[in-house]
Amino acid sequence: IEEKFQDLTQETRDLISSLPSEKGWLVSQMYQFQGRWHTQALLQGLLQCQKHFEAKDSDIILVTNPKSGTTWLKALVFALINRNQFPVSSGNHPLLVTNPHLLIPFLEGVYYESPNFDFSELPSPRLMNTHISLLSLPESVKSSSCKIVYCCRNPKDMFVSLWHFGKKLAPEETADYPIEKAYWYASLENPNKVLFVTYEELKKQTGDTIKRIAEFLGCGFIEAEEVRGIVKLCSFESLSSLEANREGKLPNGVETKAFFRKGEVGGWRDTLSESLAEEIDRTMEEKFQGSGLKF
Ligand code: A3P
Repeated sequence: IEEKFQDLTQETRDLISSLPSEKGWLVSQMYQFQGRWHTQALLQGLLQCQKHFEAKDSDIILVTNPKSGTTWLKALVFALINRNQFPVSSGNHPLLVTNPHLLIPFLEGVYYESPNFDFSELPSPRLMNTHISLLSLPESVKSSSCKIVYCCRNPKDMFVSLWHFGKKLAPEETADYPIEKAYWYASLENPNKVLFVTYEELKKQTGDTIKRIAEFLGCGFIEAEEVRGIVKLCSFESLSSLEANREGKLPNGVETKAFFRKGEVGGWRDTLSESLAEEIDRTMEEKFQGSGLKF
């Protein structure tokens, strides 16, 4: 995908010309900034976000690497925090008619599309998502008491998921800096601020993980029936069969069905050769060594 230089602000153009760059796979060129590789568009969104986003103590920010379960986490937390306004068992839940990405803003995406977007207009608690690394988060996110839920996924499944998604289009970034490691340490150092969950545990124990998220977010008591309702409403089978997710499009043109492929753990075995899987294992070993983080 060719990104258009003329769509960028002068500030991004100036910065880009000073950054290390490499030919990209999904987009023509990638740029290294604060330890990670970015597309032009998401780099501009990130810069705007760093400059303008003011976190509030009541904010909830969902952080993931692309293809790590963002859509699922968005659906789960949306259902959880809005369960009084939208009972999960009601037949007219917003998630039944709207793709999760249209219900929860993607910070750097919104800032790229609308540099002057006013996040202060969103009702409280504001629920947002981002792929920004811990290092690059706007200062106010770190200094406020806002909550971060970080979800990571086995890098081999994430890689395969990204590869299939990329074939369907979409300018996304490939991760070089191990974002997982930074959030993992942040969650250990400050467990009230950052909750670390994995796609794999969400798959294995969806209900228990929702309860952990609810406790972390201070959502109060949640009935077992409600937890079951959220699990069912947000399941791969349920979300992927809805018209809003089969037929819809995001404002940037990405088809909503691209976010629902297989939703499995360990599916990388169908796509990766043994030697490529071993290479990824070696890189993971090197990057996560000594962190205590296991996939
Ligand atoms: P696969 O490509 O392995 O199937 P993201 O939302 O971060 O873009 O991640 C997309 C991945 O999450 C895809 O993985 C997709 O199928 C999976 N996914 C989407 N919705 C899901 C759900 N409700 N439950 C489980 N997995 C889901």
